[in-house]
Amino acid sequence: MADVKLTKVVKRYGDVETIHGIDLDIKDGEFVVFVGPSGCGKSTLLRMVAGLEDITEGELHIDNECVTSVAASRRGVAMVFQSYALYPHMTVRENMGFGLKMAKTDKAEIKRRVDESARILQLEPLLDRKPKALSGGQRQRVAIGRTIVRNPKVFLFDEPLSNLDAELRVQMRVEIAKLHSQLKNTMIYVTHDQVEAMTMADKIVVLRGGNIEQVGSPIELYLNPVNEFVAGFIGSPRMNFFDCDVIAQTDDSLTLKLPCGEVCQLAADVSRSPGMTRVKLGIRPEHLKEDQSGEIRIGVDVDVVEHLGGSTYVYARYSGEHELIIQTGGLSPVRRGDHCDFSFNLDQCHLFDCNGLSLRAAKPVPLHTQAPVAQALSG
Ligand SMILES: Nc1ncnc2c1ncn2[C@@H]1O[C@H](COP(=O)(O)OP(=O)(O)OP(=O)(O)O)[C@@H](O)[C@H]1O
Ligand SMILES: [Mg+2]
Repeated sequence: MADVKLTKVVKRYGDVETIHGIDLDIKDGEFVVFVGPSGCGKSTLLRMVAGLEDITEGELHIDNECVTSVAASRRGVAMVFQSYALYPHMTVRENMGFGLKMAKTDKAEIKRRVDESARILQLEPLLDRKPKALSGGQRQRVAIGRTIVRNPKVFLFDEPLSNLDAELRVQMRVEIAKLHSQLKNTMIYVTHDQVEAMTMADKIVVLRGGNIEQVGSPIELYLNPVNEFVAGFIGSPRMNFFDCDVIAQTDDSLTLKLPCGEVCQLAADVSRSPGMTRVKLGIRPEHLKEDQSGEIRIGVDVDVVEHLGGSTYVYARYSGEHELIIQTGGLSPVRRGDHCDFSFNLDQCHLFDCNGLSLRAAKPVPLHTQAPVAQALSG
């Protein structure tokens, strides 16, 4: 069990800097997810924690010890990769115990640790099989078992589920969350899938272009994204954005003209942004209502309707040209080609200035949403 602390961590390959001075505190036992688009530096950052990449500048502490220049094998970390690369000629038991055997661990101790990991991962009936006789999910569990037997202080996962089909991914995601609630080790998990991040993390770190955009619990990021990038990245389907003209401004409010011509006033923290002429209004698909109970009504032309069973996604155009997505009830009567009215409330809107920074005061985050997913699963 261990804290992980990154201080002004930089990565350069020759002249090219890919990680630009990252500060991050991960608490003992936390499940932290690094998320962001392809190429933003998630794997590089994880590999620097693992000791598989040198840290160009800055410091890394694990369990209060500076390990910036310590070899990977002596950092007390274990990593699960996307390609699980099991030895095909060895059984599950031999695969799981191989690292310990190489480290000349006592045979009885290897058996004890492999049996314990197999019990945790429900691999006991499969211990004598070879990898070719396992499903993808079972192989991934063996790869995780290989790291559990080493009893690391910190588990590192780099997109471990991306080779699995959609159903297995959901199943394994729950298994990893359960594993975390059982073992209670610090875990750092990399994914570009924001649903995985939302469902597994105690704390999400959103990365872009080698910088941290925001760190917070899933619900904090959902309710209070600090900028347009995080607002668009967290939440599925993606938040809708509309350019609006600013008609009037006080220190704590903006009067806007919406694309449909309607004028409305919103609370906004604009004391540091005098003289704005344009802002972006953000509204999540699930906050657009099919009934007319919201404060603002908008008329849309419906292009596509997707019935998912439990909910319906409506792809539409607003004021002729602005595309938007609406998430509504499973039995929605809306049909392609319809012209219909939706409504929304202003307190559910987000506002961003021309630099993409949020202009709205943070909403309170309900206490119960701070509980780790893993705790809920074990309860
Ligand atoms: N050995 C290398 N030499 C030069 N540049 C590299 C090297 N390895 C990675 N990079 C660059 O560093 C940046 C971050 O790469 P990284 O693999 O960390 O991205 P990622 O966020 O894990 O992306 P993905 O989701 O595609 O796995 C990229 O722009 C990549 O091209
Ligand atoms: Mg990667």
